[in-house]
This record gives sequence, structure tokens and C-alpha cells, in this order.
Amino acid sequence: MPLWRSWCAHLQKSYGMKPEYADGATPLDPDEAAGLKLTHVATMKELNIFEQQNIQQAAAWAFGGREKDMLNQQYIRQLHKRMFGHVWKWAGEYRTSNKNIGVAREMIGIELRQLCDDVAYWIAQATFPPDEIAARLHHRLVAIHPFSNGNGRHARLMADVLLERKLNRPRFSWGGVGLVASGDMRSAYIRALQAADCGDYAPLMQFVRS
Ligand SMILES: Nc1ncnc2c1ncn2[C@@H]1O[C@H](COP(=O)(O)OP(=O)(O)OP(=O)(O)O)[C@@H](O)[C@H]1O
Ligand SMILES: [Mg+2]
Repeated sequence: MPLWRSWCAHLQKSYGMKPEYADGATPLDPDEAAGLKLTHVATMKELNIFEQQNIQQAAAWAFGGREKDMLNQQYIRQLHKRMFGHVWKWAGEYRTSNKNIGVAREMIGIELRQLCDDVAYWIAQATFPPDEIAARLHHRLVAIHPFSNGNGRHARLMADVLLERKLNRPRFSWGGVGLVASGDMRSAYIRALQAADCGDYAPLMQFVRS
């Protein structure tokens, strides 16, 4: 069996048990797992490395070049495609299944449009300090959960691009470690998002600059 097939089989078999997923990571369903473009990837660790390379190219695009209008669905999807397009066939496409986190799939476009309108309004009216606008964007974006995977990394990059290119602020430090793997920082991050779900943004505000 080719390596990628054995990897997919492994992913499918463990779907539901998700031993290789970090705490709070969205499991892929079998159709999504079959959307892997790289036929030579054998392990989650390798997959993470390929994704990370792809994300670095996307970050160079997002932080460099001419300033782009980013508060619209086209940009949101384009950034996801640039982050994961070398790895996943469905990069840049909204998810077509419902997950245990995120809005109903048919609500994704509506919720994103509302979020973009809200952020533009907060900036224009200075409703919140700049850091809080970026933290609120991040929180709402992961709560909508537009994509099958990569929502956390995509929403962190969106917040950082908003800070640097629109709000004239340095990027967040996000706990100072990569949040992809499980660990104390990831737990603190998920707890901060859960507090924000209840309207308390203080832990998230503290976390993003820690
Ligand atoms: N209980 C929760 N409450 C709010 N947000 C959550 C919760 N669990 C996970 N999340 C968010 O969902 C993200 C995981 O979704 P997904 O797997 O699509 O993103 P990812 O980029 O692949 O993961 P990662 O953030 O590990 O890089 C987390 O990073 C976090 O932002
Ligand atoms: Mg994930």
C-alpha cells in the first residue's frame, strides 16, 4: 500500500479516537483526509512540516507586497488557499460538513460577511483598542470555523496581518511557542478562547501578548 494510503487508513481508523490530534484540533472526516495532495507524506509529523513550509510562503505574501483589502470573504479564502494549497485539495474552500465546533455549514458565508463588517466598523469607530479588535477577529473566526482544517493557524495569521497592516501594531506572540502541539500554552489558549465564548476577552488579550 502506498505510504499516503496507509497514512489515510491510519487517519480514518483513528477518526473518533484522534490520538495524533492536538487538544482542540478538528478531526478530518475520511473525504477530507482523501484530499491530501502530497502522495509521499507518511506521518503527522511530516505533514506538519509540509504545512508549515506552505504557511511560511503564505505569510510572506500576506505581510509583503502591496497592501491588500483583507476584510472580505475573497481574501479570507485566498489566504487559506495560499497557506494550505500545496497540501490539501480543499484549501480555500469552506467546509461542507458540520463539526463539533463552528457554525452550521450553510451559515459560514453569512457569518463571515457579518464579521468583516463588524471589524471594519470597530476600526472606523475605534470601538475597541487595536489589540482587542485583532483578538476579537481571531476569536470570531475560529468560532465560525470556515474550513475543514487549519482554522486556528489561519485565524492567527489573519489577526497578525490585521495588526501589522491595518492597525499599525506588532504581531501577537501567541504564548511564544508554536501552538500546533499539545502543551500548557495550547491549553491556556483554548481556555482563553472558551472565556471569550462567554464574553470575557481578558484571558485572550493577556495570552496573545504573552
Ligand atoms: N473549545 C474550543 N473553543 C474555542 N475554540 C477552539 C476550541 N477548540 C479548538 N478551538 C480552535 O480551533 C482551532 C483548531 O481548529 P483546526 O484544527 O481547524 O485548526 P488548525 O490550524 O489545524 O489547528 P492548530 O490551531 O492546532 O494549528 C484551535 O487552534 C482553536 O483556535
Ligand atoms: Mg487542525
